[in-house]
Amino acid sequence: MTSVGDVSRAAVDRLRAAGVTTPELDAELLLAFALGWSRARVLAERRSALDPAAAERVEPLVARRCRREPLAYLVGEREFWSLPLRVDARVLVPRPETETVVEVALARLRSGPPGPRRIADVGTGSGAIALALASELGPGDEVTALDRSASALAVARANRARLAGRCRARVELARADLLDGVASAALDLVVANPPYLSDAELARAEPELAFEPRDALAGGDRDGLGAVRGLLAGAARVLRAGGWAIVEIGAGQGAAAAAAALDAGLGEVEVLPDLAGRDRALVARAGKCTVRGDRADGAA
Ligand SMILES: C[S@@+](CC[C@H](N)C(=O)[O-])C[C@H]1O[C@@H](n2cnc3c(N)ncnc32)[C@H](O)[C@@H]1O
Repeated sequence: MTSVGDVSRAAVDRLRAAGVTTPELDAELLLAFALGWSRARVLAERRSALDPAAAERVEPLVARRCRREPLAYLVGEREFWSLPLRVDARVLVPRPETETVVEVALARLRSGPPGPRRIADVGTGSGAIALALASELGPGDEVTALDRSASALAVARANRARLAGRCRARVELARADLLDGVASAALDLVVANPPYLSDAELARAEPELAFEPRDALAGGDRDGLGAVRGLLAGAARVLRAGGWAIVEIGAGQGAAAAAAALDAGLGEVEVLPDLAGRDRALVARAGKCTVRGDRADGAA
C-alpha cells in the first residue's frame, strides 16, 4: 500500500534534490491540489492509502516543480492582500513585498481629502495592486489598471470578474504603454510595480523567473530603471497637484530612483523599506506648481 505520506516524502526528496528551497511546503501544496484536498487534510491523512490513479496525478506536478516552474502556475492561484488571484504564465506571480506598495498607497490616500479618487495601476499584470486597492476604497473611487500586454490584461479581467464581490471601487482595464493616453493632471495616485531588474540581475536570478514574462521583469537601462524613469516622467504629467506616485523598486535602487523622481519634476521624495528592511517603495508627489488641469480644488 502506498500512503499519502509515502508520496509526500518521495516528492520532498525530489524537490530538495532539484534545489527547491521549500520542498516540504511545496510537496504538501502540490498533493493538496492534485487530490482536491486542503493542506490540513494532507497533513492529517498521511497514513491513509492513496490509490494509484491519485498518485499519478501528483507525479507530473512534482516533475514540473522540479524543473522549477513556479508553484503558483502549477496550482493556478496566488493569494495577494488576502485576495485569491488566478495566475498563469501570462503574468508575474504577485509577491508579498508588493503589499508594501499597497499599504503606502492606502496610507497616502487616507491622509488626503475624502471624496472620489482617481488612480492608475501601471503594469497591472494579474490585477494584484488594482484589485487590492479596489477592495479597500469606496464606491466613488476608480482604479484604472493599465498594461501593455493584452494577455496580462485578460488575466486581470478574469480576476476582476472573480473578485467583483470583494471590490467596492470601480476597476477599469486598458491597454497602454506606461501612462500614454491618460489625460494630464487627471489622477490622485499613480501606483506601479513596474519591471525593474537589470539584465545582470536577471542572469543570476532563481530559475523560476525564467518562466515569468520577460516584459514583467526586465526594466531596461543598465541599472534596470528604464521603465521606472519613463513611468515617473508620465506620472509628473498625469498627476494633479498634490497627487502621489508610489512605485515599487528593487533593493539598492533607492538613490537612483529618487534622483529619477526629482529629474521628472516630482517632489517630497522618499524611499520606504519593506518588512525585510530593503528599499521597496519610492514615494513622490506632484508639486502645487505643476497644476495643468482645471481641478483647482484637488478633488477628482
Ligand atoms: C513586475 S510586473 C507587475 C505585475 C503586478 N502589478 C504585480 O505587482 O504583481 C510588471 C507588469 O508591467 C507590464 N509592463 C511592462 N512594461 C510596460 C509598459 N511599458 N507599459 C505598460 N505595462 C508594462 C508587464 O506586462 C507586467 O504585467
